[in-house]
Amino acid sequence: MHNIILEVSNLQFMRGKQQVLDIKNFGLHEREIIALIGPNGAGKSTLLQIMALLLKPTRGILTYRGIAVDSRNALAIRRRMAVVFQEPLLLNATVYENVATGLKLRGVPREEMKKRVDRWLEMLGIAHLAGRRSHQLSGGEAQRVSLARAFVLEPDVLFLDEPFSALDFPTRLSLLKELDKLLKDTGIAAIFVTHDFSEVPYLTDRVAVLKNGRVIKTGSFEEIFKVKPRRENYLTSLYRVFESDAAG
Ligand SMILES: Nc1ncnc2c1ncn2[C@@H]1O[C@H](COP(=O)(O)OP(=O)(O)OP(=O)(O)O)[C@@H](O)[C@H]1O
Ligand SMILES: [Mg+2]
Repeated sequence: MHNIILEVSNLQFMRGKQQVLDIKNFGLHEREIIALIGPNGAGKSTLLQIMALLLKPTRGILTYRGIAVDSRNALAIRRRMAVVFQEPLLLNATVYENVATGLKLRGVPREEMKKRVDRWLEMLGIAHLAGRRSHQLSGGEAQRVSLARAFVLEPDVLFLDEPFSALDFPTRLSLLKELDKLLKDTGIAAIFVTHDFSEVPYLTDRVAVLKNGRVIKTGSFEEIFKVKPRRENYLTSLYRVFESDAAG
């Protein structure tokens, strides 16, 4: 197993008097992909936001490559991470500008910026949409733009909070397969929140189950679900109907 890249210890998070999270220890290894599952309100999104340094824990420490996160190093560490939310949060600008923004903020030179943006637009199959404005995209296209925005930053850690839940099954399946390959090829570590267990076999080295703010189980797919992971399933074969263009 690789080293731990990001870890929370003795984490507590309160919203007013409500204890939303209480986690003794939870860590993500380099190159690892964790599926984070659990019922509504379990605290999955909150945990992701804390690990992505978007929200400060009430108690506890976060360590990044063994270094405790504090107010001095937080911004630099934050820049090693990227987040994709359920609803694509795009700027009212072109697809190209949306993907380029993070690099602009990081002061990446123009030439290199263009190279990286073009590469990720290509990788996500949206190069032809570069000049399109964000409000003129379908949900699936917008989510591809969100993924390109995240990958172009070349993060060490990627957080995905139900990124595909609004998409139709064929789009979701093709994005899952692409994302699986992209993460493996780039070696980016990721935490992936989903309610759709059929997505879990694609993007998972380890499953973590969150309930009432606690990590109650972690383990391989088989250990958690007591069945073998299957990628090609009945639904996949039904949706082959979309693969041919011929009218029938
Ligand atoms: N902005 C907020 N203000 C107050 N309470 C909140 C806020 N966001 C979340 N909560 C509460 O914090 C708890 C954890 O919420 P969180 O969004 O992390 O759950 P989740 O596991 O992501 O749920 P879901 O599966 O519905 O997305 C819930 O009890 C929720 O009601
Ligand atoms: Mg959530």
